[in-house]
Amino acid sequence: MRNPWLDIPLADYESHMSMPAIDQADMLAAQFSDALLRFSPEAVAVIGCAGGNGFDKIDPAVTRRVVGVDINPGYIVAASSRFEGSVPGLEFHVADIQSDPLAFEPVDLVYAALVFEYVSLPESLGRLSGACRPGGRLVTVLQMPSQDIHAVSPSPYRSIQALVPCMRLVSPEEFAGRAATAGFLLESGKTLALGSGKQFAVQMYRRADG
Ligand SMILES: C[S@@+](CC[C@H](N)C(=O)[O-])C[C@H]1O[C@@H](n2cnc3c(N)ncnc32)[C@H](O)[C@@H]1O
Repeated sequence: MRNPWLDIPLADYESHMSMPAIDQADMLAAQFSDALLRFSPEAVAVIGCAGGNGFDKIDPAVTRRVVGVDINPGYIVAASSRFEGSVPGLEFHVADIQSDPLAFEPVDLVYAALVFEYVSLPESLGRLSGACRPGGRLVTVLQMPSQDIHAVSPSPYRSIQALVPCMRLVSPEEFAGRAATAGFLLESGKTLALGSGKQFAVQMYRRADG
């Protein structure tokens, strides 16, 4: 089955995420900013980077190499044209994190927000483990499962609804177990709630040495 992310226009995705009733774009950028400030990575990889949400938070004096990865080549073109020139050390990779090699040098921080809902966890986490240097960090944002709230919020951007059949919300507990198998040890976690009623788990992992 073709991945529905390949057919969602970036403008639809970004407009959907910025709607006041959804309001997730700023939250995701803020979590990225927090991770950059906390870990001061020299090299960071943003997995499922879309059009580069949060890249404006990168301090080039601290972070010298920035890797953006996404399955959608059009998103990568947009992110590249937006940030080439303002963010030094950028490199982009079009890749499916479940099945493609992640062909870049391991980084100090891997940031992956709202992407694990769409992929096989063992395959993806195995690849991300190889992309993170021993002792480096993985910061994740997961949408928490809920009985009462649509997993994909209704909006005028109808293309987004194509995600419904392939989205699986993962509990933070299940994710931590899968991450441990891939060599990521949970260091801390918190829950965020938005005005929409949706809740998100932010987890920080350390990649085991060796
Ligand atoms: C919900 S969006 C999150 C985007 C971004 N983190 C943000 O702050 O807006 C999920 C992103 O992951 C990408 N994605 C989905 N499945 C993927 C896969 N198997 N491999 C790589 N990227 C994937 C999508 O194309 C999309 O850009």
